[in-house]
Amino acid sequence: MRVLNPQTQADAIELAAQRLADGGLLALPTETVYGLGARADDDAAVARIFAAKGRPSNHPLIVHVPNVHAAMCFAAAIPPAAQRLMEAFWPGPLTVIVPRHPDCAAAAAGGQHSIGLRCPDHPMALRLLEAAAQLGVTGVAAPSANRFGRVSPTRAEHVVSEFEGQGEGLDEVWVLDGGPCDVGIESTIVDCSRGYPVLLRPGQITLTQIQAVTGEKVGVSTPEKPDASAPRASGTLMAHYAPRAKVRLMTLDLLMVALDAFELEVKEHPALLHEARPRLAVYSRSLWAHRGSIPGVVHRAMPPEPAAAAHHLFADLRELDDLGVELIWVESPPDDQVWAGVRDRLTRAAAA
Ligand code: TXA
Ligand code: MG
Repeated sequence: MRVLNPQTQADAIELAAQRLADGGLLALPTETVYGLGARADDDAAVARIFAAKGRPSNHPLIVHVPNVHAAMCFAAAIPPAAQRLMEAFWPGPLTVIVPRHPDCAAAAAGGQHSIGLRCPDHPMALRLLEAAAQLGVTGVAAPSANRFGRVSPTRAEHVVSEFEGQGEGLDEVWVLDGGPCDVGIESTIVDCSRGYPVLLRPGQITLTQIQAVTGEKVGVSTPEKPDASAPRASGTLMAHYAPRAKVRLMTLDLLMVALDAFELEVKEHPALLHEARPRLAVYSRSLWAHRGSIPGVVHRAMPPEPAAAAHHLFADLRELDDLGVELIWVESPPDDQVWAGVRDRLTRAAAA
C-alpha cells in the first residue's frame, strides 16, 4: 500500500489524481467517511473496487463529482427535486439518485438504470476531483473503503488496516490521507429517480431538511421502514456496518438489568475477571451518570450530541473491536430525527 499525505508531500494530490487516471484504486477522504475510489468511466477499474471490497457487483456505487456540471455527464435527466437538493446541499453529505445516462458508468451503477451522485464537502477531495478532471476523469466511483459489510473507515489508518496484507491485490490500494472525517457516518441518500423523492439512507442531513428543500412529501425506505419498491443494495441491507464483536442495542433500563446480571455472573465466576481479554464493552450516553465502573467491563461514553456521536461512532466501534471484546452493549440513541443516522448504523450493526 502507499499512503500519500499532502501535509508532507507537495505532489500528493497530483500523484493521487494520476493514480485514478491510470485506472488504479485510491482511497480518498471525504467529509463523511473514506471512499475506495476508481474512475467511474472505466469498467475494469470499477471491477477492482468490487474485488477489493468483496462486494457483489450488482450493488451500485456512488459517483463523486467536483461540481453540478460534472454530475450532468452521468445523468439522463435531473429531476426538479434532485436539482433543488444539489443546489441546497452540495458540496455536502448528500447523495442524489437520478436516471443514469445510458452510455455512462454502467458498471459503477451495478447495472441499474439510475446512478447515485455526490459532491463531497472536503477540501482535499475537491482538489483531487478537480485535478483528476484535468486528466480526463469526470467522476470517481467510491463506496466506503471497508471490506464488505464492515464498519466504514473515518481515518486513513482505518483504511490501511482494512486492506494491508489482507489478501491478493489488496496492497494495490493507495490512500490519500486527509485526516479524520468530520461527519463520521455516510451521506444521506435520496432517490429522485422514481417520480417522487425517497429517503434511502439517513445521514447528517435530515428528512425535515430534505422536505423543506424539495417542497414535497418525501417517502422513506430504510431498513427500519422498508418500502416494497426499494432496490436491493448494500447500503440498504438490514445487516451491515458490523464490527466483529456482537452488538446489542438496549434501552437504558434494559442495559442496567443486563449489567446487574453480568455483575452477578462475575461474582459467581471470578475467573472471568482474569481472562486475557475483556468480554464485554458498554457504549452508552447516560449510564455512567447512574453507575460506577463495573469490574470486567470496558466503558466507552457515546457523546450526548448527535453530530459528535456520529463523528466518533465508527472509530469507537473499531477501537472496542480491537480490544477483542465479544460483546458490545449499546444504549439505544433517542428516537429523534437528528439521531436517525446514528440509530440506523447501530441498528444494522446489531442485526449482523
Ligand atoms: O458518504 C458516503 O456516501 C460514502 C462516501 C465515500 O462518499 N460512500 C458510501 O458508499 O457510503 P457505499 O457504497 O458504502 O454506499 C452506497 C450506497 C449503496 O449501497 C446503495 O445503497 C446506494 O448507495 N446507491 C448507490 N447508487 C444507487 C442506485 N443507483 N440506486 C439505489 N441505491 C444506490
Ligand atoms: Mg459502505
